[in-house]
Amino acid sequence: MQWISVREARDAARVGEQIEVRGWVRTRRDSKGGFSFIEVNDGSCFANLQIVADSQLENYHSVVTSLAVGSSITARGELKESQGGGQATELQATEVRLIGDAPSDYPLQKKRHSFEKLREWAHLRPRTNSFGAITRVRNQLAFSVHQFFQEEGFFFVNTPIITASDCEGAGQMFRVTTLPLDKPPVRDGRVDFSKDFFGQSTYLTVSGQLEAEIFATSLGRCYTFGPTFRAENSNTSRHLAEFWMIEPEAAFFELPDNMALAERFIKRLLTDLLDRCPDDMQFFEDRIQKGLLDSLQTVKDKQFVHMTYSEAVEILRNCGREFEFPVEWGADLQAEHERFLTEEHVKGPLILHDYPRSIKPFYMRCNDDGRTVAAMDVLVPHVGEIVGGSQREERLDVLLSRMKEMDLDEQEYWWYIDLRRFGSVPHSGFGLGFERLIQWTTGMTNIRDCIPFPRTPGSAEF
Ligand code: 4AD
Ligand code: MG
Repeated sequence: MQWISVREARDAARVGEQIEVRGWVRTRRDSKGGFSFIEVNDGSCFANLQIVADSQLENYHSVVTSLAVGSSITARGELKESQGGGQATELQATEVRLIGDAPSDYPLQKKRHSFEKLREWAHLRPRTNSFGAITRVRNQLAFSVHQFFQEEGFFFVNTPIITASDCEGAGQMFRVTTLPLDKPPVRDGRVDFSKDFFGQSTYLTVSGQLEAEIFATSLGRCYTFGPTFRAENSNTSRHLAEFWMIEPEAAFFELPDNMALAERFIKRLLTDLLDRCPDDMQFFEDRIQKGLLDSLQTVKDKQFVHMTYSEAVEILRNCGREFEFPVEWGADLQAEHERFLTEEHVKGPLILHDYPRSIKPFYMRCNDDGRTVAAMDVLVPHVGEIVGGSQREERLDVLLSRMKEMDLDEQEYWWYIDLRRFGSVPHSGFGLGFERLIQWTTGMTNIRDCIPFPRTPGSAEF
């Protein structure tokens, strides 16, 4: 007898086969006519398989009629065309075996739980419809990320997780140390990190970009896809302390090439998602965000709007809206500003470019106007900034004077500077926040529900 997944068993072409399925009981209903319907889910797809077990089974009264929600079972029998609606097939069981019982304190009984409550049960929430769907969507998107870049000639490189440099310069790094915190070595009144494991101060990376630039300026095109860490104390619905980022970097790409790449990339991810996860996406449409499918479809088909930061500031100042944070040229845009622009002004994705240099990191290429840099952010409805990128400063003298201006130690970035000394080329890249992408494409309200195990201030359970 062949053991197959629920996904395979739902295929009408298999009707008539003798099969076995294995999974977890979602519901059980006993009819007076002497048989039971058991809905089994094994995670292979959104839907369950209905198992029809009749009282002829030798363990019908002893086991089947007391199968609990959450228990694991195997069932064998013939796959039949289903009489009920909503499914093509059902399993007429000749054998049902209980593998692991679930007592009545199993938290995921039929009643619906809030996402906040489910976060406390991160070990069980993948068994719910929502988290099963999110997990499969996440998987599909990750696969498409690799497919897209492989097809575009980008090489996958792994950049370090422990690093000594602060790419974004925002000071939001988690320190990595093995020094005893109760009695660290001290020199001149300060902790002596030269005695630390790596002989210097080290941190968890906030971005793989600087190292990706090494590979872009040798292999031409590369991308990283890895975990990144930010110790920012922001308890918002779109910030995580540990998140995954996709960072392509390409030699001889200027800002317009970079923007075009980001747009192609996002559209490709949406196309694959809508094509390959129809049931999961329908769930998000029905239960999480009405209109989601239409809005994603529109994004796929429409050209992204481009706008300079300066134009955006003008729009925000003249829109007649009261914002919590004032809008001034030179100040960073807040979530409320980003969301107004993308949700109400443009009503779709928007690429903002040429930001004030005073609010952007040292590596961005300075524009000729002396006050802006070749930066670009992609903003989307519902989450705001999803991509941040730029053309990088490839001119040695400009980079050095910018580093001086920002009080950065040249010695710490000696290898980054070397890339400008030996065969420097224009190059560009960006970072796409993977969980923000998932949040946008599923309509989920909180980014903590878009990663299996969220790390946020005060929370690192599981
Ligand atoms: O804009 P960011 O900070 O850009 C960089 O790190 C660049 N070095 C990327 C590059 O050019 N290679 O971050 C990029 C993206 C943001 O647009 C956002 O989607 C996501 O990473 N992001 C976060 N996602 C979840 N939680 C956080 N705390 C995030 N911070 C940034
Ligand atoms: Mg950013």
